[in-house]
Amino acid sequence: MTSLQSPAVRAVLDRLYAEADRNDGEVLPRVRAEAERLGGNYDDRKVAHLLDDAFIPVCPEVGQLLYVLVRMRRPKVAVEFGTSFGLSAIHIAAALRDNGEGKLITTELNALKAARAAEHFRQAGLAERIDLRQGDAFETLQGVRGIDFLMLDGWKSLYLPLLQKLEPSLSPGSLVAADDINLMQELLKPYLAYVRDPKNGYTSCEVPIDDGLEVSLRA
Ligand SMILES: C[S@@+](CC[C@H](N)C(=O)[O-])C[C@H]1O[C@@H](n2cnc3c(N)ncnc32)[C@H](O)[C@@H]1O
Repeated sequence: MTSLQSPAVRAVLDRLYAEADRNDGEVLPRVRAEAERLGGNYDDRKVAHLLDDAFIPVCPEVGQLLYVLVRMRRPKVAVEFGTSFGLSAIHIAAALRDNGEGKLITTELNALKAARAAEHFRQAGLAERIDLRQGDAFETLQGVRGIDFLMLDGWKSLYLPLLQKLEPSLSPGSLVAADDINLMQELLKPYLAYVRDPKNGYTSCEVPIDDGLEVSLRA
């Protein structure tokens, strides 16, 4: 049995996905209405105040894929931008535990979300694999070196500036996964153009599940 299938991890994930369905079902229509009002000026940072209680997790299939990618890549250092309540982090940390090595550094701006994520990591029995840093990723990830796996799932307009900031810390052959590429296509255009241009040092492809995941291999 893998850690992902273990009773402790399954119980936390099943409970949180059910809670996310109930909770986000009410929140997301409000966000969509605000997005329509903002039109071309839409930026997820402008609706962040509506998302304070929202899980907006990776879907279970993307979670499974994260587990598979981390098992295959065997990162010593994995980093995640955007913890929220911790669902993607639990998938990544379960894979690290099954690899028998590696640590996940995950970072969340919202203090209440970070506190709840910490509790979920403890309940899943994965806290020892996870270094949860509350604050702005641009500060909390300063000085992190040797990143073998990077998951981008915070506000979309920050994917490219954060990738470029962390680029000197990516190890050769590292994997970068970016969620929601089809959800906010306009905001993510510069990011996708960058990782899909071979002269920037990535081999990149879209995995068309749910809102789309871009997986990029750093040369
Ligand atoms: C889509 S949710 C993450 C979902 C999570 N990965 C999961 O699967 O459960 C995005 C999160 O990124 C956080 N975030 C946005 N900008 C951030 C920043 N600059 N630093 C750290 N976290 C940030 C938001 O507060 C929000 O909780």
